[in-house]
Amino acid sequence: MTTRPFEIEAIRQAFPSLSHHASQQPLVYLDSAATSQKPKQVIDAISQYYSGATANVHRGSHALTTAATNRFEAARKTVADFLGAPVRGIVWTRGATEALNLIAQSYARQNVKAGDEIIVSEMEHHANIVPWQIVAEQTGATIVKWPVDPTTCTLDLTVFETLLSEKTKLVAIGHVSNVTGTRNPIEAVIQKAHSVGAVVVVDGAQAVVHETVNLSELDADFYVFSGHKLFAPAGIGALYGKPSLLDAMPPWHGGGKMVEKVSFSGTHFAASPAKFEAGTPNVAGAIALAEASIGTTRLIALKPKSTSARFNIDW
Ligand SMILES: Cc1ncc(COP(=O)(O)O)c(C=O)c1O
Repeated sequence: MTTRPFEIEAIRQAFPSLSHHASQQPLVYLDSAATSQKPKQVIDAISQYYSGATANVHRGSHALTTAATNRFEAARKTVADFLGAPVRGIVWTRGATEALNLIAQSYARQNVKAGDEIIVSEMEHHANIVPWQIVAEQTGATIVKWPVDPTTCTLDLTVFETLLSEKTKLVAIGHVSNVTGTRNPIEAVIQKAHSVGAVVVVDGAQAVVHETVNLSELDADFYVFSGHKLFAPAGIGALYGKPSLLDAMPPWHGGGKMVEKVSFSGTHFAASPAKFEAGTPNVAGAIALAEASIGTTRLIALKPKSTSARFNIDW
């Protein structure tokens, strides 16, 4: 694929929806933090799956299911590489919200008890607040708010240090704020939280589209994002969990594919990540998310280092 200089026409060609008009003007879309428009490659990946080789995955033995399973698992590897994570740590979800609820109900509900504390930054999207409120209600744990500095709109690490204690069992923080665009110092947050033995859940929904994430270096315990903000369709996203944590967590939903053996006298669950993927997954969505993550990696690499640099588009 060739790299073209930044130009509106190239962007319009890469994103078919931008060929439309609104109020008799060429469409201008500035709401990508809510959801992104979709490039042709992603639309083509979905279309090829449905027009070429639709089949369920991890069940059946015919050629189409083998091909679909191979593409589905190759997509998981692509998304793992996108995050610099081991493939065993990637669980498909419907998006960031479902991933955060999975962590709350499968990890936190087992590992947090009455008297424990969950630190949640005041900057969080509701999806990274409400699941912790529910789990606090279920377990008797307390939510501790890490307030935003009203003058700088940032989170102060010295305040964080005063909130941390041996009672802190989990810290929930956004990588980049969906309101202000503030990029939080998650490297320091993770290091400080780990020093008291707390687990860190990072909401990467707004970050993955803007910077390279390397989870092997970052050492986050959990990291989540939604595909639709990253040029992929809605209804697909990913949860990264450290494999040692995922292995020890109970399943959240029950159904097909997350079991190894079922009988009325007992059920043996599959190993993670399959343990967390009950039912027929969003195969086309996973394939499209892999395609979107490849394009996003290219875009991030081309991002200008300074505002005067030229920006290139390369879908
Ligand atoms: C920072 C952040 N976290 C979580 C979410 C929830 O994402 P979704 O609704 O795709 O699950 C959003 C969506 O706006 C967000 O901006």
